[in-house]
Amino acid sequence: MNKKLTLALTKGRILKETLPLLARAGIEPLEDVGTSRKLVFETRRSDVQLVIIRGTDVPTYVRHGAADMGVVGKDVLLEHGAEGLYEPLDLGIARCRLMTAGPVGWQGTGARIRVATKFVNITRRYFARQGVHAELIKLYGAMELAPIMNLADLIVDIVDTGNTLRANGMAPLAEIASISSRLVVNKAAMRSRYSTIAQLIDDLTEIVQDSENATA
Ligand code: PRP
Repeated sequence: MNKKLTLALTKGRILKETLPLLARAGIEPLEDVGTSRKLVFETRRSDVQLVIIRGTDVPTYVRHGAADMGVVGKDVLLEHGAEGLYEPLDLGIARCRLMTAGPVGWQGTGARIRVATKFVNITRRYFARQGVHAELIKLYGAMELAPIMNLADLIVDIVDTGNTLRANGMAPLAEIASISSRLVVNKAAMRSRYSTIAQLIDDLTEIVQDSENATA
């Protein structure tokens, strides 16, 4: 088969940390993905191409087989589901935590709490497990603003350094999940292109282990 192996990558911080791992596996884009407006990139491996899209779209491309493999945050997989995907490798990059957070000193109201988040499915499951009745308010960004403007009591968001919370008078409360980027593979491609994909998974597994040993 001559069709190129297609990897779907997530724009932004995950991409910056993914490219060095792929480069060590011989997969380097032929042009600067940071400055180009293109969405499809040829690589030094003539049998592999990259597409660079929003993280939330990566599982969709891979599930439908429009991409054979992808790199995406665990937060996206938890929120939007991972049906139809294999998740063979934790790349150990773009590590952060998905947390509840509230205004510094927040003690709870006793009443029904309002929670602003873009992770509505994760948040619904989390509060249901806690037996807490929460009203969910779906936002698409800047969750930290919601308590300041009294749109919500708490938020559920990604916390990395904690700087965004601190800058907005908030503090982390409870960890819901530990997040990192995952390699995902289309199930049909895993069968039809087994040797190429299995080799790449093996190479990346070794590269991830090496870089984790180097930073340990
Ligand atoms: C994420 C998240 C927080 C911030 C946390 O946003 O939503 O706002 O990073 O990082 P910190 O703890 O180091 O301050 P991101 O910048 O990824 O943009 P987004 O709102 O588009 O997700």
